[in-house]
Amino acid sequence: MLNLVLFGPPGSGKGTQSEKIIEKYGLVHLSTGDILRGEIANKTSLGMKAKEIMDKGELVSDEIVIGMIGNKIEANKDAKGFIFDGFPRTVAQAEALDKLLEEHNEEITLMISLEVEKEELVKRLLKRGEETGRADDNLETIENRINVYHQQTSPVKEYYAAQGKAHLVDGVGSIDDIFEKVTDQIEMVK
Ligand code: AP5
Ligand code: MG
Repeated sequence: MLNLVLFGPPGSGKGTQSEKIIEKYGLVHLSTGDILRGEIANKTSLGMKAKEIMDKGELVSDEIVIGMIGNKIEANKDAKGFIFDGFPRTVAQAEALDKLLEEHNEEITLMISLEVEKEELVKRLLKRGEETGRADDNLETIENRINVYHQQTSPVKEYYAAQGKAHLVDGVGSIDDIFEKVTDQIEMVK
């Protein structure tokens, strides 16, 4: 299996690059943000709880997202591999993911971190907010999402670096150029 973690701050291009990676490598896309937005759209009780947290730009509890990912891994045992997008977001989630994969004699192959400066992130997210109306793409929530990333999520990068699995890619430029750099990294470990 090819198991990738696509990592980076809000707006760094995780979702955009994930779509292209899936197309090329046929992996199963696991985006905790997308799953949670699906729960909100379906007005489930989990969705209603998550919406309040997501609208503030805070993190949903580790327990909830780890449970969601565990179910998806279980339901896709025959997959060629997974692409984890927006997960893990805390060191506790990264440790739990290693355990979940271990149960299937699998592991993370590679972590790619998309490196983008704050000014560019804010610009991209405000633009998307205007275009799509995504609820957490407003200036106040964007600022908090970026702070939460620095405080709670960035340690995940060191977690994978300690395993020799973290690779940094410049996430500024054209989507295709960035994809080329991402695939260069994937081809090296594949
Ligand atoms: P989530 O859905 O994961 O959002 P995010 O991390 O804030 O990131 P985005 O999806 O906004 O950005 P992205 O990196 O995917 O970039 P994209 O490709 O879309 O999480 C949302 C919330 O859910 C969290 O705040 C939290 O509350 C909760 N949550 C989710 N996972 C969780 C977890 N594991 N634990 C706890 N809570 C969790 O691109 C952004 C924009 O830029 C797009 O408009 C795109 O078209 C554009 N763009 C992309 N690439 C480029 C480029 N190269 N140049 C110019 N524009 C570009
Ligand atoms: Mg995304």
